[in-house]
Amino acid sequence: MSVNEIGEKDLNVQSFIERQVAEISAAVGGGLAVNALSGGVDSSTVTLLGHRALGNRLKTYFIDNGLMREGEPQFVVETFRKLGVPVEIVDAQDAFFSALKGLSDPEEKRKIGITRTFYRDVFGPLVKRSGAKFLLQGTIYTDVEETVAGIKAQHNVLAQMGIDTEQAYGYKVLEPVIALRKPAVRLVAKALGLPAAIADRPPFPGPALTARVIGEATRERIATARKATVIVEAELADAGAFQCMAILHEDRVTGIRAGAREFGQQIEVRCWDTRDAVTAAPTRLPFDKLTRIADRLTSEVPGVVSVTYNVTGKPPSTMEAV
Ligand code: XMP
Repeated sequence: MSVNEIGEKDLNVQSFIERQVAEISAAVGGGLAVNALSGGVDSSTVTLLGHRALGNRLKTYFIDNGLMREGEPQFVVETFRKLGVPVEIVDAQDAFFSALKGLSDPEEKRKIGITRTFYRDVFGPLVKRSGAKFLLQGTIYTDVEETVAGIKAQHNVLAQMGIDTEQAYGYKVLEPVIALRKPAVRLVAKALGLPAAIADRPPFPGPALTARVIGEATRERIATARKATVIVEAELADAGAFQCMAILHEDRVTGIRAGAREFGQQIEVRCWDTRDAVTAAPTRLPFDKLTRIADRLTSEVPGVVSVTYNVTGKPPSTMEAV
């Protein structure tokens, strides 16, 4: 791995920002660049760095892959409108769901369902049409580390996986925050003026809810995971955790509802305490909180008859299920 980490203690936020802005300007020259904004802290930070460097020569897209959380496209567009950054929503739901069809292997879902669809099928034509030669993206140090170690192919790690984006997709990728881990990115985000709703946002994975659906990610199963996510995030908002999530299992189990048998679905709740996501421990949640979440999930999410809480740390678990 040829990236050198800049630790939080070694980070001079202002000079980091100035250096990255200068590097983006120098690389893009008088040309155009594009970036995809997901609303997470990493891509939001890169959007503001790129905007500072290039102004309206940076075109920012929100790719609506149909796999995000409830209300996400509107939240992101509105937040950045207030910051003076126009964001265009691209409806790519059909492309992602057709690529994910029939895929249940975790790495196939990541590499074929998400990475290839995003860079080749959705972004390739967009970049070509725009005339841009550069894509700015928010890869961070941890993404590269886990991908290179062969644990999970993070959706946005390309060069280190031997992918030459210029040859494969027709554009170069610039990664201004690749030397940073999440806590350092948050410092840069705040210094750039991103509101706390973004700068302090819990992470959300690039493959979005596909990382939280074990087995095939159909529209219907993603919708179930999305409904469960709303409940789990609302109930655990005050838990002080790094990240919490609802995972839809593939196996069904026999349940009983209104006196009748229901061969239903299982949701696993995960909630993590960690600083850098490299190792993590399950949050010690009160049992009353867990039973309240179980009551809500089984009564508000159609088809769910069983709820479990993960008590395994990372390692040997990983934080996302897929
Ligand atoms: P894991 O599941 O690898 O997750 O223990 C560690 C942290 O990384 C996030 N994550 C991702 N982030 N692209 C991302 O940008 C990905 O493909 C991806 N997979 C996992 C995860 O949410 C957790 O915070």
